[in-house]
Amino acid sequence: MIHEELQDALNAQINQELSAAYNYLAISAYFDEENLDGFAKWMLLQYNEELDHAQRLKNYLLDRGGHLCLDAIAKPRSQFTGPLEAFEFSMLQEQHNTKSINNLYEIALRLNDHATKSQLQWFLDEQVEEEKSVEEVIKTLQRIGGDVAGLLYLNDKLGARQPETSI
Ligand code: FEO
Repeated sequence: MIHEELQDALNAQINQELSAAYNYLAISAYFDEENLDGFAKWMLLQYNEELDHAQRLKNYLLDRGGHLCLDAIAKPRSQFTGPLEAFEFSMLQEQHNTKSINNLYEIALRLNDHATKSQLQWFLDEQVEEEKSVEEVIKTLQRIGGDVAGLLYLNDKLGARQPETSI
């Protein structure tokens, strides 16, 4: 049976992953409305990944005999001044999520819950990749500036992204 404090923290993290998914879905729709299909696809894959993260945590919580407590999800932001602002917003979300996973890990450490530490290791590694991929797009967008050809090139590049293996 998992410690109640960890159960609560895992439930909060599940809510955060679902909130992130919701935000990415809204950003994907924003890009669709801007006729940037590659950006939209990239964000939709992010949406799917966040759903996988929530599912992975939910499965773990239940495997440990915990209780799933789903909470309300805030309305996502859906308007941006352009791709750069949408990706900067995504970066803030990922940084917030990294901090949250770190806090969760620290609780598991304090409670000597080695199984949860092991489970969270995957998320710590995943956050490094997530922040890196968003940062790369931000840097490219900064380099592109107002150049339409550059933006369309990046749109094609992001549209070539393939989904990761789902859990
Ligand atoms: Fe589930 Fe983007 O972290």
